[in-house]
Amino acid sequence: MDPRLLLFLSLTTLLLAHTAHAKVTKASATVYKAVSSESDSVVAMGSIEFVDDSSGQVHISGRLTGLQPEGNHGFHVHELGALFNNCMAAGSHFNPGGKQHGGPKDSERHVGDLGNVVADVSLSGTHFLNRVFKNPHPPQPYSLQASGNAVIDISDTIVALNGPNSIVGRSIVVHEKPDDLGKADTADSKKTGSAGKRLGCGIIGTDQH
Ligand code: CU
Ligand code: ZN
Repeated sequence: MDPRLLLFLSLTTLLLAHTAHAKVTKASATVYKAVSSESDSVVAMGSIEFVDDSSGQVHISGRLTGLQPEGNHGFHVHELGALFNNCMAAGSHFNPGGKQHGGPKDSERHVGDLGNVVADVSLSGTHFLNRVFKNPHPPQPYSLQASGNAVIDISDTIVALNGPNSIVGRSIVVHEKPDDLGKADTADSKKTGSAGKRLGCGIIGTDQH
């Protein structure tokens, strides 16, 4: 055999082997406020990072703004990487196993079922004074300010960045209402957690190949 051909074949084999073993370890999504038409302005609600640190879990972290304050909001991976039509283009919850909707700790759950994110109520400047100066005189009035920010810090053993449960190329969706984790006795609860409208969505992508 021509030695040059041999070299070429060896290199090709090496390259293919490398491609086959390349593992995605990190992905991210920018979440955009749901829009009904392409002419609506694009508003980012935040970004989410997905890291597979080889511990058997995917760590999901980030921040979202513009949620209804003080409350739970359903948070799922939906099957399709598409955002139009008020995020309805993202399709149903990512469910390769054909299971019923559930909570993140349940064995009967969609792969995409990440439960809820919690939006906070932040406290305004006068409250800050009360905390720093411990009971100032005269006392400063408290004032609550609704902010609707959620800090996301989830570790999940079911979603993956590789293999059949891979969420890369799919969408992350945040909902208007709490996800009841499939615990209510209704058909909708077993399907979507009755989390209501889709407030925002983003496509989960990766730089890695
Ligand atoms: Cu959802
Ligand atoms: Zn679900």
